[in-house]
Amino acid sequence: MKIKTAFLATALALGVSHSALAVVKVGFMLPYSGTYTALGQAIENGFKMYVDEQGGSLGGEKIEFYRVDDESNPAKASDNANRLIKRDQVDVLVGTVHSGVAMALAKAAQDTDTTLIIPNAGADMLTGALCAPNVFRTSFTNWQPAYAMGHVAREKGYEKVVSVTWNYAAGKEAISGFKQGFEEEGGKVVKELLLPFPDVEFQSILTEIAALKPDAVFTFFAGGGAVKFVQDYASSGLGKEVPLLGSGFLTDGTLEAQGESAQGLLTTLHYADGLNIEKDKAFRASYSERHPNMVPDVYAVQGYDAAQLLDAGLAAVNGDKSNKTELRKAMRNATIDSPRGTFTLSAAGNPIQDVYLREVQGKENIMVSIAREKLEDPALGCRL
Ligand code: PHB
Repeated sequence: MKIKTAFLATALALGVSHSALAVVKVGFMLPYSGTYTALGQAIENGFKMYVDEQGGSLGGEKIEFYRVDDESNPAKASDNANRLIKRDQVDVLVGTVHSGVAMALAKAAQDTDTTLIIPNAGADMLTGALCAPNVFRTSFTNWQPAYAMGHVAREKGYEKVVSVTWNYAAGKEAISGFKQGFEEEGGKVVKELLLPFPDVEFQSILTEIAALKPDAVFTFFAGGGAVKFVQDYASSGLGKEVPLLGSGFLTDGTLEAQGESAQGLLTTLHYADGLNIEKDKAFRASYSERHPNMVPDVYAVQGYDAAQLLDAGLAAVNGDKSNKTELRKAMRNATIDSPRGTFTLSAAGNPIQDVYLREVQGKENIMVSIAREKLEDPALGCRL
């Protein structure tokens, strides 16, 4: 204590302001193991890249990082969140990838009035019935890309679609979003196939799809599971007969491993390769320089934008992190100059953003068109 006081006195005598000595502690709760490992790493990379571009400070405050591997395991989520909140005493939580884990993380953030920025997990409820002033998302709701694909599938003339996904919130919500878009245009989802997260034993499901003979298959898979599903789908021979559609996670950050099996796949997402956006070009050049073995994917973008959002909040309060009300107000009203294209947040705290239709060509998800412009999640049940 004495040392700290002496240090403060010296610093003040040297003309260093009090606030310049404070730090903002950011806690990453992300998967650093399991099927979503690469996603967690990309989010952290993107976040840190933005902070480094600002010289290590946001709103004039030095940023200090803490991290916990959540293993995409909902059963461990509360304990993991409390490691960051209670043990490390972080000011801001950044997490996570998996919707089920994010639900528990949001509860812990709520109980302790900690600001939470979700850089991926799409659980609709987090910016729906469970929306809250301290909760922000820089990614998407599971509904958003899937709903857009429902319309695209009808435009392609498909009438009967089979869906397949993991049996957890993200998968089920993606299917329901697709179904809404597809069926409001007169299509029909004839069968919804599920397997436990994060299983990758797809054989019996592929056999069932072959027997059902749908016009197309819609799917939500991501990370390691997406790599395996796309490979298995192609090698089963179905790839040549029944078009495979997906929320864009199916082919984002995965193309190096999927190779030939992914060629021509159509997906919808709020990011794409080949966007003619200056911010994106700069983002991709710096990211590729910092991480020569990784592609600048949607997860890196979402992490980068999480840091931009926090910066908007901290700048508005001159780094005074104790002024949570004004910090959050500024975050909610921010306009984010994202590599995906500029976006704002809805009252519920979720991006209002263009959803692109993309086609896999080589190792890229090339932008074909804007499937839905400025798509806003309906935020069912949110009263903010
Ligand atoms: C989710 O669990 O919400 C989730 C996970 C991985 C993705 C997208 C959504 O790529």
